[in-house]
Amino acid sequence: MSSAPPPLVAVLALLFITPVIGWRPWPNQKINSSDLQFGGSKKFEGSSEFVHMKYHMGPVLTANITVHTVWYGTWQSRQKRIIREFINSISAPDSKHPSVSGWWKTVQLYTDQTGSNISRAVRLGEEKNDRFYSHGKSLTRLSIQSVIKSAVTASTRPLPINAKSGLYLLLTSDDVYVQDFCQNVCGFHYFTFPSIVGYTLPYAWVGNSAKLCPGTCAYPFAVPDYIPGLKPLKSPNGDIGVDGMISVMGHELAELATNPLVNAWYAGGDPVFPVEIADLCEGIYGTGGGGSYTGQMMNGADGATYNMNGIRRRFLVQWVWNHVLSYCTGPNALDQ
Ligand SMILES: *[C@@H]1O[C@H](CO)[C@@H](O)[C@H](O)[C@H]1NC(C)=O
Ligand SMILES: *[C@@H]1O[C@H](CO)[C@@H](O)[C@H](O)[C@H]1NC(C)=O
Ligand SMILES: *[C@@H]1O[C@H](CO)[C@@H](O)[C@H](O)[C@H]1NC(C)=O
Repeated sequence: MSSAPPPLVAVLALLFITPVIGWRPWPNQKINSSDLQFGGSKKFEGSSEFVHMKYHMGPVLTANITVHTVWYGTWQSRQKRIIREFINSISAPDSKHPSVSGWWKTVQLYTDQTGSNISRAVRLGEEKNDRFYSHGKSLTRLSIQSVIKSAVTASTRPLPINAKSGLYLLLTSDDVYVQDFCQNVCGFHYFTFPSIVGYTLPYAWVGNSAKLCPGTCAYPFAVPDYIPGLKPLKSPNGDIGVDGMISVMGHELAELATNPLVNAWYAGGDPVFPVEIADLCEGIYGTGGGGSYTGQMMNGADGATYNMNGIRRRFLVQWVWNHVLSYCTGPNALDQ
């Protein structure tokens, strides 16, 4: 696991319980306020000789990846556009450097038993709207699988079943609570159970935290109330909740590609608590990041903070673990 903002928060993070497959904005390690002093001067970025990212022989996504989306609840078309453009940006080679496709290059470094790399191609698949909250406004990990089941078995335009190269992304609107949301997770990934859904499908959930806990899940575009004097940064697409979701989506997509059935790439001896390629770089967005420092990011002329370019837009996305170099890397690294 790793890092993020202010030391005060880091101490509180100690109280949080580590989820099985989850994403938290706050670190539970390297809790040390002097981390802030490292700034850009030291190679930090989660580097550690103690991290043994290991391949456990399971499949990874080496075929062209298709992301099928379920929009759960109330979504504005403007919000959907930001998210679609992020997904489309992953394989858009012509975006200005540093780019989202440059970020995905670290994910492509991972291979399966045959030496095949993770696919470069990630495209948007089919979409399903669940406008009327088919399973209510409070979901559990199990009812999330029922939502996916409804989407793949719908009588009109069901999402296609694509177990080898499909990823299923459930996105919940800002008025939906999901089990553990805000306390210790902003998103998670797993696979569906045949007993519930009828198939084993890798999926991720990411929630819009704008109403429930932006200071937790949309950091640094919102900050927690209990930290006086800390100012939020301006988000690149003018939507704090959605801009915050982008980094969590990046986290989950990177892990789904490298560990779709939770038996491929992870560190740590216990498969119940795998530490995956994005877990190691939580809160790291640029050179020098680690501990409580986000690392060097970029500022647009409009004052927005970001670290990579996509199609028509800019995004702030956390870095991911590079097992060749044994530290977190991203396209905006200053030393590349
Ligand atoms: C914090 O980091 C400093 C500098 O690396 C170190 O000297 C100190 O012992 C650390 N404190 C804790 C509590 O780990
Ligand atoms: C595939 O993975 C290997 C091993 O990490 C790496 O050396 C190579 O550059 C990767 N190829 C691509 C196209 O990313
Ligand atoms: C995979 O994607 C690439 C480019 O994105 C495309 O050229 C190729 O035809 C695709 N392969 C399959 C099997 O769909």
